Amino acid sequence: MGFKYFPCAQMQPVYKKPNSGPRSGLEKRARAKCPKRPLGEKGLTCHIPIQVYGMRYTTTLWTWGIISLLTLAACQKKTSDDTFITFASRAMQDVLPPMIKTLQAKVDKDGYAASVNFCAGFAGEHGKTKNSEWSEKAAQEIGAKTFRFRRISERNRNPQNTADARQTEILASWQKHGAKPTVYREGSQIFTMHPIKIPMPMCLGCHGDEKSLDKKAVMEIKRLYPNDRATGYKVGDLRGAFLTETTLRD
Ligand code: HEC
Repeated sequence: MGFKYFPCAQMQPVYKKPNSGPRSGLEKRARAKCPKRPLGEKGLTCHIPIQVYGMRYTTTLWTWGIISLLTLAACQKKTSDDTFITFASRAMQDVLPPMIKTLQAKVDKDGYAASVNFCAGFAGEHGKTKNSEWSEKAAQEIGAKTFRFRRISERNRNPQNTADARQTEILASWQKHGAKPTVYREGSQIFTMHPIKIPMPMCLGCHGDEKSLDKKAVMEIKRLYPNDRATGYKVGDLRGAFLTETTLRD
């Protein structure tokens, strides 16, 4: 690794005129420890040589101050990104599992075809209720002016769930490098995306391939969604994302 720290230079207050030799006993002692310490500094100076990839630099307190500020700024941004990710995870955990449970019960009772319309209706109703619940929470907990969530996919069934260019890019990178919660900003809006995978064979009756699709359900899906692209999946496949959009109070 190319980063080395030479502890030779001490941080010492130096009280003397510019360009004069060491005067005080304090500074003589500092110079004895660190002969390379530059002469003629006023006030508190700290010359710490560092070596980065073979190049040797002398740093001052200013340099370290600026490095600390930049680090602090980077950490703060990360903290707020984490806040949005955590909040969106909680919303997703509250929204999706009950939806799957209700759908499973309906499929068990009435079959896939009868559940297609129910799925759309329930997703809409449940989505509305939960959206207003979570936008109130977002206002209280993360200072949101507006908050909403929805599901998106690059192979969507409902045209309202189409992923835009940026979201399609993120979904494509998840396919290549593995899916992970992601935050991005556009103007005053903060977006989070959490992966939705196909967790169980039940989904395949309406999202699977030729073999696993339910024949009657397919007819119903084609009738309601003539431009459907949401078939051909296997268990474990990335199906899309849980998207949140937040704007913060000024
Ligand atoms: C009974 C049929 C059916 C089953 C079973 C089903 N879905 Fe769907 N799925 C639909 C329909 C219909 C829509 C469109 C809903 C709408 O109009 O908002 C949809 C939409 C979606 C969307 C939103 C993106 C898009 O393509 O519009 C996701 C994500 C999704 N389903 C995931 C799943 C998962 C995961 C499972 C299994 C837990 C599952 N679905 C099971 C019928 C089904």
